[in-house]
Amino acid sequence: MIRLDKYLADMGAGTRSEVKQYLKKGLVTVNGQPEKRPERKIEEREDAVCFRGEPVVYARYAYLMFHKPAGCVTATRDSVHKTVLDYLEGASVKELFPVGRLDIDTEGLLLLTNDGPLCHALLAPGRHVEKTYFARVEGAVTEADILRFAEGLDIGDDKPAAPADLRILSSGEFSEILLTITEGRFHQVKRMFAAVGKRVVYLKRLSMGPLHLDETLRPGEYRALTEQEIAALKAVGGTEGQ
Ligand code: URA
Repeated sequence: MIRLDKYLADMGAGTRSEVKQYLKKGLVTVNGQPEKRPERKIEEREDAVCFRGEPVVYARYAYLMFHKPAGCVTATRDSVHKTVLDYLEGASVKELFPVGRLDIDTEGLLLLTNDGPLCHALLAPGRHVEKTYFARVEGAVTEADILRFAEGLDIGDDKPAAPADLRILSSGEFSEILLTITEGRFHQVKRMFAAVGKRVVYLKRLSMGPLHLDETLRPGEYRALTEQEIAALKAVGGTEGQ
């Protein structure tokens, strides 16, 4: 059971005080009857709550796929740069956080959620969740690089990077590649290319485990994950029952 004002605020209708105003204005119904009392107790699985005529279903966790643009920091607060939360107007941003980090100049797939257990499971080093990146690299990427990436590169940490799958899309003065890694070390892709004497000039994350960037999302746009996407992520994280 949960108070009606908290229910609506949690689902992104507005702040608790905004929600109280909406209630006063008669914009909310419970089981088809107008309801003005913020303290009205709601049974999440049974009562039908509508706001401005639209059903509002209570979900404990929110999951958003965000197409991170360059120039945005993977943080929820920053005094200088735009953060991921600055792009989520209209969404319930309450307690949402990014799962993992992308550099400020990296674009692409970022999962935002408030599901702490899933976040921890997906980031756990032992879980080896695959992340695939597209990169444009200065210099010719070669078959020799593929072998070195597959063996596990020394990138200056205590341990070499885990073997990674490098695919060359084109090779020349600038090369285009796909790289799949199973770790999430700081600047990992850039440092792997630096270890073979090359510089990443553009980087975009395409997938994380079973989750693939929806290419209809332009940089800065987001959408809710589908039920299937959530289930697939939970299966990888081993948090199905939670
Ligand atoms: N590797 C990097 O170097 N940067 C990122 O943002 C992600 C992976």
